[in-house]
Amino acid sequence: MWLSRCGSVLLHRVEDMTALAKQSAIAKQPAARRRLLLASDRGDRSRDLAGILARVADVEVVPTAELPDAPSKQLSGIVVDINLRSADSVQQIRRKLLAGAYKPVPRLFVLADELHHGSMQAWALGATDTIARPFDARDILLRIQAAFPDPDEDTEAASAEALNKGVSAAHAVLVKMFERLPAGRALSFDDIKQAEGHILKAIKKSSLREWLAAVGRHHNESYRLCLFATGFSVAFAQHLGMREEDQRRLTRAALLYDVGKAYVDVAVLDNYDNLAGDQLAAFREHPRLGFNALVAQGSFPRETLDVVLHHHELLDGSGYPDGLHGDQISDIVRITTVVDIYASMVAKRAGHEPLTRARAFARMESLGDKIDQRLLQAFRPVAFGS
Ligand SMILES: [Fe+2]
Repeated sequence: MWLSRCGSVLLHRVEDMTALAKQSAIAKQPAARRRLLLASDRGDRSRDLAGILARVADVEVVPTAELPDAPSKQLSGIVVDINLRSADSVQQIRRKLLAGAYKPVPRLFVLADELHHGSMQAWALGATDTIARPFDARDILLRIQAAFPDPDEDTEAASAEALNKGVSAAHAVLVKMFERLPAGRALSFDDIKQAEGHILKAIKKSSLREWLAAVGRHHNESYRLCLFATGFSVAFAQHLGMREEDQRRLTRAALLYDVGKAYVDVAVLDNYDNLAGDQLAAFREHPRLGFNALVAQGSFPRETLDVVLHHHELLDGSGYPDGLHGDQISDIVRITTVVDIYASMVAKRAGHEPLTRARAFARMESLGDKIDQRLLQAFRPVAFGS
C-alpha cells in the first residue's frame, strides 16, 4: 500500500541529523562586523585613521590606484583619505567610485581640515559624509555608525521582513483552505508551494519563538493551531538539518493537515474539549472530509493526502479514521501527528490556558506506544527551545 511507503526517508535520518545539528550549533559564527575599505594615497598618513576605524570595523587599507574595479558583496562602505587638491588622486578615485559597481556603496571622505575646499570635491564624488583632521576619535566612530549600517542591524531588519512575509504567506494559504475552498473556490498544490519558501525563510532568519509570538495573536483557533504546527514542523526540520526539499514537505504537511476542519461545524470545533456522541463523530470526520476535498482538487500529491487523512492515526491502532497500526503509518504522518498534538496543547484555545511546554511534553511521553517516542525525543530541543 502506498500509504506505508510515503516519506520513509525522513525518519531514518532523525538521529544522525540531531548529532549534526548539535555540531553546527557549536560551530556557529560570531556576529559579523562592518567591513571597510580605507582608500588612501599615503598609507603612512592614514595609519592613525585605520586604528580608529578598527574599533568598529574590519579595515583594509588600499592604495587608491589599487582599488578593485568592483566592491565585494560584504563591503559596508569606503573611507576615502586622499589629497583632494591633487587632480591625479581625484581622477583615480572618480573613475572607480562613479562607476556602476560602487554606486550603492556608502562613502566617507576625509578632509585636510574643517574649512578644506575639498569638501565640494568630496560631495561631487558622492560623499555620504565627511570628517576632517585633526581627528576626534569619538566623533569619527559616531559618523561611521551613522554612515555604514551595522550588519547586525541589517540582519534584524531583514529578519523582521522575512517573518512578516512568512506569516502573510502562511495566512494566505489558510484563508484559501478554510474560507475559499469550502465556498467552491479552487485550491492548487502550487498555492501551497508558493508559500513554502517564505515560511522556511521566516523561521530560518528570525526564530521559532518570534514566529509563535507573531501567530499566537491570531484570533481564529484553527488558523492559530495550523500556524503553530507549521512553525514547529519547520523548526524541527531545520533543527535536524534536513535538506530543503524535505523541509518543504514538512511545511506543506503542517499547513494542510487540518484542512478538513473547514467542513466541520464551528460549534463542534469550539466544543473540542467536551466532545461526545454525534459531535465527536462529526469531529472525527474531518480527516476524511479534508482528504476528499483535496482529492477533488486533483493536484495534490499522495504524500500530502496521506498526511491529511491519517494525522489522527495512532501506532497502537486506536486512532482514526482507518485504525492503522505501526508500519502502516508513514514517517511524515508520524512527525505531523507529534507536532499536531504538541501544538494543540501549547497553543492558546478558547476557555483553556495553554499547557507549559514541560507539561505538554510529559503528557506526550505518557502516550507511550501510541506515538513514535523516538521521534518525540528528537523533537525535545525544538519543543523546549521555542
Ligand atoms: Fe486534525
